[in-house]
Amino acid sequence: MEKIFLALPGNEILASALAKHTAGSIGRMELRKFPDGETYVRINDDVKGTKVILVCSLDYPDEKLLPLNFLAKTAKGLGAAHTCLVAPYLAYMRQDRRFQKGEGITSTYFAAMLSQFVDSLITIDPHLHRRTSLTEIYSIPTTVIHAANKISDWIREHIDNPLLIGPDSESAQWVSSVAVNAHAPYVILAKARLDDTHVDVAVPNVEMYKDHTPVLVDDIISTARTMIETIGHLRKAGMRKPTCIGVHGIFAGNAYDDLLSAGAAEIITCNTIEHRSNRIGIDDLIAPIL
Ligand code: R5P
Repeated sequence: MEKIFLALPGNEILASALAKHTAGSIGRMELRKFPDGETYVRINDDVKGTKVILVCSLDYPDEKLLPLNFLAKTAKGLGAAHTCLVAPYLAYMRQDRRFQKGEGITSTYFAAMLSQFVDSLITIDPHLHRRTSLTEIYSIPTTVIHAANKISDWIREHIDNPLLIGPDSESAQWVSSVAVNAHAPYVILAKARLDDTHVDVAVPNVEMYKDHTPVLVDDIISTARTMIETIGHLRKAGMRKPTCIGVHGIFAGNAYDDLLSAGAAEIITCNTIEHRSNRIGIDDLIAPIL
């Protein structure tokens, strides 16, 4: 089936790479705001009978959801046989229960919304912590791809004598699988989140790894507070400046610069969200599934 890629703003590089890998084409479309702030959508290609692949990483998802919904519905309205959302970063996965009385379980609501307007979803390492599978909340077919082996390859090629460090128990699943293929030891630290922007991290006995290069690995770097706290403790323990690796670099506000100032030797991310820290490509993992 012919594949037409529609790149939402900020996803053009990934969409082009995917189109190239799959011999698909980049669809021509118009997406803009009317003067009153409403969204205008137009697809300028004949999508009838095609597979339309919407490429849209879902960091800062609220502003993206409506254009995405309109585009998917326009494609279907114009006769597309299938709409697939490639969202390398999948939002709203962390609010997966009521942490405090009265809170919304927004991961469920978000999944229900997406499931209503695209036919399938492909994503990279969603934050599945208390849930084990996207099928618990998504009613459309979903494919989850893991970046662990790509991260391991990068570590093997670039870091001497690495010690992988997971900042909290939630990171254990990513760190342990990266460690296996990087042939490196790893430790998991204990984190307590105090509020949206403050975390406290306890470091177990890392002194025994002082001759190693610390490599912090986490799925998401958002405010970077988790990594910044961890660096502080590593430095106090006399360890070297760490390399910080995130699958998804959101870098809210000044998080990237704050993390460098806090003592990260370098910051590396996968290209799930376009950013200057992107060093690890995941497009070749997505392409075979399309
Ligand atoms: C937490 O549950 C995740 O695995 C990350 O540790 C977290 O999202 C990082 O957030 P921040 O950069 O805001 O500390």
